[in-house]
Formats: sequence, structure tokens, C-alpha cells
Amino acid sequence: MICIGDETPFDVAAREALLDVAMGPDRKLKSSERLREGQTPADGLALVARDMADDGPARLAGTVRLWRVLAGEVPALLLGPLAVAPGRQGDGVGGALMREAIARAHAAGHGAILLVGDPEYYVRFGFSASVTAGLAMPGAYEQRRLLALELVPGALAGAAGMIAAPLAVATNGALEAGVAAGESGALRWGAALLPHAA
Ligand SMILES: CC(C)(COP(=O)(O)OP(=O)(O)OC[C@H]1O[C@@H](n2cnc3c(N)ncnc32)[C@H](O)[C@@H]1OP(=O)(O)O)[C@@H](O)C(=O)NCCC(=O)NCCS
Repeated sequence: MICIGDETPFDVAAREALLDVAMGPDRKLKSSERLREGQTPADGLALVARDMADDGPARLAGTVRLWRVLAGEVPALLLGPLAVAPGRQGDGVGGALMREAIARAHAAGHGAILLVGDPEYYVRFGFSASVTAGLAMPGAYEQRRLLALELVPGALAGAAGMIAAPLAVATNGALEAGVAAGESGALRWGAALLPHAA
């Protein structure tokens, strides 16, 4: 039986091993990775799928995480990586992770989710490239694979420019990375300078 739940610190080693085997050794060269470096996932949006075996400990079957980004000047989430253990692919685990992540993001009031992935897979969850035409990722990527789902209709209307990691700027000029928008009135969002993918 598969259970979807929050990732815990005890899942980290298994998550990294799963990502290595599911996505290969080049996974850290992806453009999306540049936006995740130094960041933590958005609150409540680091999910795992656990395979609850009757005769042994639960095993990690899948992982997905979502991250705060700025789409031009519009706050949004970036989804990824999504990966399922090779032995469980095709069993609906990826779909279950996606549906739970979308439901949680919607419930938390986020306006839109972006990702870079195969349209042939993500269209079933409502993702489309039609609202990302004015947006760009740092580094190498295919524009047809830059997809988005608006959780609030029109959330990405007018979103244009580079997708960037958030960088909170304190009023005294000090920089604090990874502070979420709206968590403190003393902070505002700015765009981090990002190196291009290798
Ligand atoms: C892509 C991935 C997350 C899907 O998870 P999953 O649990 O295997 O998928 P589900 O069981 O929910 O869905 C299976 C369906 O998705 C389809 N599918 C899976 N990967 C696909 C892809 N890259 N493109 C198009 N369709 C895909 C399958 O053909 C199947 O179609 P069907 O329902 O018509 O039979 C998983 O296969 C995986 O981890 N792949 C390697 C890592 C990866 O590529 N991640 C990024 C995806 S862009």
C-alpha cells in the first residue's frame, strides 16, 4: 500500500538515492536545480510516497518537492524533482504525488505551479506551456517543456521575464536567502543572481 505524506529528515538519504537511480547522475546539472540551490522547499510541500509493506519497514517509493520562485515579478511555486522508484513506476505513484502536491499548494493559497518536464505526462494534471511563453529559465532548457498550472485563474497573466529564486531583502540592507514572501512585513522579495547551468 502506498501512503503519501510529509518528507522527514529520516527520508533524506533514501530520497537522494532514489533521485540518483531514477534521474541519473546528471540530475544536478538541470536548470531547475539552479533555482533550488540554497533554498528549502515551500512549507508543507516536500512530499514522499511510502510503500508500506506488510512484512518489513516502509520503503521510499517516490518524492516530489515544490519551491518558492519569482516568475518575473509574480510569486509562484516550482515543482521538482518528481521521481518514482523504478520498481514502482507505472503504478500511479507519480500521479498520487502530483495530485496531493497540487491540492496542498491550492489549499495554502499559492497562485501557480511551474515545472520543466514532459508535457505528455503533465498535461493530465492541467499543466500547459500556454501561460509560460513570456517566461524563461536560467540555463539550458526547452521552452516547450516549461509548463505551468494556474491554481488561481489568471495568476500568471502578465508574468514575464526570468524565473528566479527568491531572495528576501531586509530593510537594513542585509540579505537573507530563503525567507518566504509575506512571513515578515520587514522583508520584501528580490531576485537572486543565478549562475547558468553547466
Ligand atoms: C515520470 C514519473 C515521475 C511518472 O511517475 P509514475 O508513477 O511512473 O507515473 P504514473 O503511474 O502516475 O502514470 C503512468 C502514466 O504516465 C505515463 N508517463 C510516465 N512518464 C512519462 C513521460 N515522461 N512522458 C509521458 N508519459 C509518461 C505512462 O506512460 C503512464 O501512462 P498511462 O496512464 O497512459 O498508462 C516516473 O516514471 C519517474 O520517476 N520517471 C523517472 C524520473 C523522471 O523522468 N522524472 C521527471 C518527469 S518529467
